[in-house]
Amino acid sequence: MWEVRVTPCGDFDNHPREYKNFTVEPLAAAMGAEVVGVRLPDLSDEGMEELKQALYRHKMLYLRDQHLSHAEHEHFASRLGPFAVDAYTQGVPGHRDVHPIIKEADEVTPSLFGGGWHTDSPFLPEPPSITTLRQVEGPPYGGDTCWTNCALAFRHLSKTYQDMLRGLRVHMSAANNFATQAKLRGEAIGFGDASKQEQGLKGSFHPLVRTHPETGEESLFICDTYAVGIAGMTTHEAHPIIEFLVQHTVQHAFTCRLRWKPGMVAMWDNRGTMHLGPNDYDGFRREMYRTTTAGGVPA
Ligand code: SIN
Repeated sequence: MWEVRVTPCGDFDNHPREYKNFTVEPLAAAMGAEVVGVRLPDLSDEGMEELKQALYRHKMLYLRDQHLSHAEHEHFASRLGPFAVDAYTQGVPGHRDVHPIIKEADEVTPSLFGGGWHTDSPFLPEPPSITTLRQVEGPPYGGDTCWTNCALAFRHLSKTYQDMLRGLRVHMSAANNFATQAKLRGEAIGFGDASKQEQGLKGSFHPLVRTHPETGEESLFICDTYAVGIAGMTTHEAHPIIEFLVQHTVQHAFTCRLRWKPGMVAMWDNRGTMHLGPNDYDGFRREMYRTTTAGGVPA
């Protein structure tokens, strides 16, 4: 007998806390929240500290009607910590840490940037901690972003499975992604900057269960796009574990989904989440700008 799949329950705690500088309205039971009553450039140092605490709690935050300039975006993101060097994209002129993610209305591509479940650049030895994203222009529908709560997913594994995972190291590499992108585009593997490509292919080994440096919360460090193996295991041994963990983590109960409006800003904590942007808005222009904050070595 197999047990039928039942929806997780009993450990959903996305309720808002009280903050002095803004209010917070949860988006879904699993994660995500809207921050109301503040414009990001006006946040005091105390407000910034509260925003970080709210981000660690809800894992994804968003604010409406911000309409930030590149300079305002860059300045806000710099208050989250030093910028990361992005593995894929380049900044806009004059703002090298504000990176465009733009899909034109007439562009049709099977391999959209960020189109599969992933956490940002986990193949790096020190993957980014926080990502911010703002919309300047977007489709009337579609072009959402989805996130999943990898800490909640970890807590919803049996104790036996949790104990088995602690101590394992996951190999994160861009090899499968590079090969898939090249195949979809009908091109040879090639990714601009040779040293970035080499680092991406080689990848890094990280704890499969990581501990958040600010909150102590344990979280699965898993990724559909970049997890390619587990240290000490054959690929035949590792693949079913990775596949199970990805499917477990992306089940609807653990997710939230944001419908963008121009002027919105979202931010998420890569240390406890995966995300993706569905490739579903052909015929409409989507203009986004992103920053990434440096993270330490996952522990
Ligand atoms: C990303 O993966 O960082 C981009 C997600 C999106 O464009 O919605």
